[in-house]
Amino acid sequence: MKGNLSVVPFIFGKAPSLSMKLCRSFWKMGIARHFPKRDYNCNHFNNLALAYFKLTPACNLRCVMCGQFGDKGNMKHCVAEETKKVLPLEVWKRVVDEIAPKKPTTYVWGGEPFLYPDLFPLVRYMVQKGLYVAVNTNGTLMERHAEEIVRDKWSTIFVSLDAFRDVNDSTRGQGSYDKVIAGFKAINEEKRKQKSKLPILGIVTVVTNRNYLDLANLAEASKEYDIGLHMINMGTYTNDNIVAEQRRFMREKLDTDIDCLEGYNTGYNLGIDGQKLHDILQDIHNKDYGHPIITVPVLNPEKTHTYYSELETPVRNHCIVPWCQANVNYNGDVHFCADYPDYILGNVTQQSFKEIVNGDRANKFRKAIHACKGGMFPGCLRCYQNMLFGNKIKGY
Ligand SMILES: C[S@@+](CC[C@H](N)C(=O)[O-])C[C@H]1O[C@@H](n2cnc3c(N)ncnc32)[C@H](O)[C@@H]1O
Ligand code: SF4
Repeated sequence: MKGNLSVVPFIFGKAPSLSMKLCRSFWKMGIARHFPKRDYNCNHFNNLALAYFKLTPACNLRCVMCGQFGDKGNMKHCVAEETKKVLPLEVWKRVVDEIAPKKPTTYVWGGEPFLYPDLFPLVRYMVQKGLYVAVNTNGTLMERHAEEIVRDKWSTIFVSLDAFRDVNDSTRGQGSYDKVIAGFKAINEEKRKQKSKLPILGIVTVVTNRNYLDLANLAEASKEYDIGLHMINMGTYTNDNIVAEQRRFMREKLDTDIDCLEGYNTGYNLGIDGQKLHDILQDIHNKDYGHPIITVPVLNPEKTHTYYSELETPVRNHCIVPWCQANVNYNGDVHFCADYPDYILGNVTQQSFKEIVNGDRANKFRKAIHACKGGMFPGCLRCYQNMLFGNKIKGY
């Protein structure tokens, strides 16, 4: 099965300058992997490879497995009051001005980023500053903005689709599949009209026990829509024991209560037949759909069942995130762990991004993770960032 880097040549064919930007980020992540800075006083800001901008705490869907708005999601009762805390455009622009010289890849997400009122001026500004801007969206609000998206040259849109129509809608909500497809068609039409290759359209799929038997149908359907990349994310899952252990650890070592990991304790991993899933993925990888399909993490075939049924077994370790990535939350708080915004490093309304990632709280986190067996916390066993960028454990 293909690894993460296999996407670079494909993107090079579509947009050479974007693939150069991606390569730069991969290079910095390689540095973080091979030479993690044990000198805590060095300037970590220089090695920023990936910056996540989580624009809003609001979402128009309630996907069942979602750590934020799903069955156990900690944001699913997010009140209107919370959405008033979003950063104004001017603050985001200031963050962009500060990080742009380091040329990180940027990943705009949420909640649903299309619900952030100034999404369009913000992304336009980021593109003008020369950044690679990937927007991760549920795609249901994309169609009516196609003209603007193509005109503003967004780099990539990663749209979440979990299966073909009915199965997708059973997890992501009635009618969501057709809205996404209408969005793909509108963007492709605009790309033709405006003679543009951008944005590159991507699909992101989260594997659950509801959709895994339908993955090939989605792959087949995706051939129609000039897709640049399809990422099959094996999914973030956890269980009671892991949550309890992480809670204890974070209290003791970082004096932090945790609120987010429980959102992934959904049970949608249960009953996935690892052999069957492996066969399905193998068939998908052996076919040519006209675009690369990658799985995250790339696993040894016989370990697929371990991923879902033995959540305590690590498959990746030595998290590199605190040495090259950070997430800015909708209210300005900065975190290393995009999906688990519990430990706050600082806030961009009070400090510069550089001060935050080089600050005492950031270094305390780095030291705590370095001191852990395998270079990761007990709760990180299926963390998406660790699945993407962590060290492959021999045999997995
Ligand atoms: C939280 S959403 C935010 C962006 C946007 N609302 C969307 O759905 O694409 C970010 C990504 O996380 C994925 N996701 C949701 N639940 C997940 C889980 N349990 N494990 C891994 N990824 C998950 C979504 O499908 C989406 O691709
Ligand atoms: S659309 Fe995204 S943020 Fe909203 S519930 Fe679904 S996965 Fe979660």
